[in-house]
Amino acid sequence: MRVLGIETSCDETAAAVVEDGRRVRSNVIHSQVAIHAPFRGVVPEVASRDHLRQIVPVVDRALREAGTPLDQVDGIAVTLGPGLIGSLLVGIQFAKGLALATGKPLVGIDHLEAHVMASFLVPDREPPAFPHLALAVSGGHTSLYRVAAPGRLERLGKTRDDAAGEAFDKAAAMLGLPYPGGVSIERAAEGHRTDAVTLPRPFLKEGLEMSFSGLKTALRRHLEMLRHPPDPQETGEIAAAFQEAVVDVLVTKTCRAAQETGVQEVVLAGGVSANRRLRERMAEALEREGRRIHLLPLSLCTDNAAMIAGLGTRYLFGDLAGAQAPRGLEMEPYTRAGGGTR
Ligand code: KG4
Ligand code: ZN
Repeated sequence: MRVLGIETSCDETAAAVVEDGRRVRSNVIHSQVAIHAPFRGVVPEVASRDHLRQIVPVVDRALREAGTPLDQVDGIAVTLGPGLIGSLLVGIQFAKGLALATGKPLVGIDHLEAHVMASFLVPDREPPAFPHLALAVSGGHTSLYRVAAPGRLERLGKTRDDAAGEAFDKAAAMLGLPYPGGVSIERAAEGHRTDAVTLPRPFLKEGLEMSFSGLKTALRRHLEMLRHPPDPQETGEIAAAFQEAVVDVLVTKTCRAAQETGVQEVVLAGGVSANRRLRERMAEALEREGRRIHLLPLSLCTDNAAMIAGLGTRYLFGDLAGAQAPRGLEMEPYTRAGGGTR
């Protein structure tokens, strides 16, 4: 069973072929980082236009690399949302056209649910057992889920304001570091002490709710008080302190969720889960408590279409066939405000 996945929710044009819902045969990603970098963030109109240019070559390459001509694909899965509306429309309309022309079944997939379920695509490793916990931490979301069963994500806590990735991106912009900010902060922080600058960790002592906007404000205040642009040493120390504050919050909340629910296995998903410091500290904290952590290869952490094809296989042909995922040619995209993970 081979499913073609298409993902265009933000600034990556991605297509992939996944076999039997588990084996990634191809995973092609065209990143728009270079064209958005001068703006220090994603410009929606620029993103949509680049998806239009890239969608055909990217899908074509994914099929070729998988050794799977279109007529041998069994179904098509596409990201329905959340995301930028203009970007989503390119992928969805392209997928609808393909489905109409080939007669293949089509399914619309929730981007966040796909991030969480990407852990089932990791080769040579036992997938997580149900129930497990998932920290989905990306540019648009920071949420903790108890994944009771496929398709059953119970949200335990989330950020009340900015997503962690968004905070990384904004902090990097304030520090004059290049977009995308997460990677820049991680690089700048390398080898620097984490306690040279004191930054807040909201709600650390209790609950599973999170907040990252105060951290951003504290960073702005610190920079204002410096009264000069930070030199490379100061930039490194600020980046290290900022990264540590975000990691402290994410590790503390995830461990608390694991303790409160008694769940033994934890998945780290989404773009920010590519962060090395987060991976190390989360692994150390969870393993100390005897829990098992599932870390994904970086290509499955950040936006990709393999996760869409993998989850799409479940909704089209697997244990979620007939479940509540919006499906078929009548599907509409949804934006962040209009919909979301159940
Ligand atoms: O999952 P993703 O690719 O797209 C969304 O669904 O949002 O996540 C992108 C986010 C960006 O905010 C980016 O700065 C962050 O993930 N990110 C990182 C790292 N790599 C990407 N944040 C911290 N450290 C990283 N190494
Ligand atoms: Zn994402």
